[in-house]
Amino acid sequence: MIFSTLSKASLALIAASILLILTTPTEAHSWADCVDWRFKNPKNKSWNDSNGACFGYARRFPVKAKPFADYDEDWPNRHYEQSHKSPSPDYAPACSDGKSGETDGADERMAKPWTAAYNGRDFRKRRTGAFTTKKIGDTMCIRWPAKNHAVPKERDLSEVFVSFSKPNPKKDPTQKQFLSNIVARLNYKNCTTGGSTDRWPCGGCFPISKKKFTPGHYVGQWRWRLNDNEWYTSCFDVLVKK
Ligand SMILES: *[C@@H]1O[C@H](CO)[C@@H](O)[C@H](O)[C@H]1NC(C)=O
Ligand SMILES: *[C@@H]1O[C@H](CO)[C@@H](O)[C@H](O)[C@H]1NC(C)=O
Ligand SMILES: *[C@@H]1O[C@H](CO)[C@@H](O)[C@H](O)[C@H]1NC(C)=O
Repeated sequence: MIFSTLSKASLALIAASILLILTTPTEAHSWADCVDWRFKNPKNKSWNDSNGACFGYARRFPVKAKPFADYDEDWPNRHYEQSHKSPSPDYAPACSDGKSGETDGADERMAKPWTAAYNGRDFRKRRTGAFTTKKIGDTMCIRWPAKNHAVPKERDLSEVFVSFSKPNPKKDPTQKQFLSNIVARLNYKNCTTGGSTDRWPCGGCFPISKKKFTPGHYVGQWRWRLNDNEWYTSCFDVLVKK
């Protein structure tokens, strides 16, 4: 009899744990779902699918693989969490290599040529999204799913940094190099609310200003801090035209 070998206390503990698993909202983490979000109606800006469309994605993003907000349950998943070690996330790979990190993500390293990470197929033969093209002076808007972390009780520490390489890089910047060129700091909690807090779409916009960009190819990084030392990244390419 299995029950006779377990004390009443441990049975209660098991029951409590099962209850907790069933009632706790899933702890999931975010990624850049769209790196070139365009609002349909400039008078009604919202991050809902019904109010805009996506024109550019992170590298090897399988566009039709999952509904919005479900790519953390994809394989490979999209929420790459940088290693806490060696000696800190600021020294970890900036773009997921698909195998390292606290949570490994999808392979988001630069392709050769860089355009090969787009408009093709991923290693599972799923169609991948387009890269982003912008003109100097354009606004660029990035969207992400809230994954329950945009509710008021979450710390406001949760912020998003968008950084870029120098023009026409031969390889991906290191995390330290990205940190030397932060172009925008966005509010993680800038969401369109309504419905499940896990699935709120959120995002932020910034200018492709002539002070910071000249025409060329750039590597961009979306980097979100959930807690101290806890960083998630998504990497993408942008072709900047005059
Ligand atoms: C804005 O878009 C939402 C969702 O599509 C819609 O319900 C709302 O009526 C729109 N508001 C205006 C002012 O157009
Ligand atoms: C956005 O979509 C969600 C469901 O996907 C809905 O609950 C919410 O009302 C929508 N908000 C707006 C402003 O359209
Ligand atoms: C916040 O989201 C709105 C759309 O709902 C967008 O127009 C605005 O630019 C965003 N704010 C920032 C600071 O990115």
